[in-house]
Amino acid sequence: MLARVDLELWARDACNAVKREDLIVVIDVLRSSTSIINALANGAKSVIPVSTLKEACDLHKTHPQYLLAGERAGLKPREFDLGNSPLDFNPEHVSGKNIVMTTTSGTVALARSREARWVLIGAFVNAEAVSKAADGIGERDEVGVSFVLSGEKGKFSLEDFVCAGAIIERLGRHKGRCSDKALAALLAFERARANLTENIMKAEHAKQLARLGFIHDVEFSCNLDITKTVPFYHNGKIVPL
Ligand code: MLT
Repeated sequence: MLARVDLELWARDACNAVKREDLIVVIDVLRSSTSIINALANGAKSVIPVSTLKEACDLHKTHPQYLLAGERAGLKPREFDLGNSPLDFNPEHVSGKNIVMTTTSGTVALARSREARWVLIGAFVNAEAVSKAADGIGERDEVGVSFVLSGEKGKFSLEDFVCAGAIIERLGRHKGRCSDKALAALLAFERARANLTENIMKAEHAKQLARLGFIHDVEFSCNLDITKTVPFYHNGKIVPL
């Protein structure tokens, strides 16, 4: 039976989930989780997340065939091939490629979770698929499932919290084993689901992205269950599970 379902509201608390030896689902709906999922769904071989621009550029020097992707302040760094728009990770750009990615918060949350045996990446676009994967592995290995919310620069993010609720809702019978934080996320999703895009648009980071001209990224990121791709972070690389 799947053990407890728990949630860490901030990436800095990922260490708690690692200590519990839980399977971790890292969520950064806007936008790195959605971009990574879309990259792998569109044929990228792997995504290699790094925390700093320097690490990304150094890795690119040794592997010039890798694509460089990511953002700072929401925008593509000048020397990079791709920004952090999920829509940019289309088959034409990414099929067959390895991608080095650095973003402000999402790749940092991944770095903080990397000691866990199982690290999956979730967003609205793969909510059903990541839920089924976490449920299956959790039950088989008798480990709990913890959601680690990336947030934005260490701040709580509404969209990541609501997305955790969407994934928890799809855990079916295991919903009963939620911590209060996990249950709160489920209740938030149940409240938000009828007008998901409209509700997520009210979030601070969504408004900031809209101001920068990325409203279509927010709209795309609010699509529920459009892919079965579940990214798995293992040995420094993210590959499809
Ligand atoms: C991040 O990792 O901080 C986000 O993905 C930022 C963004 O929306 O580009």
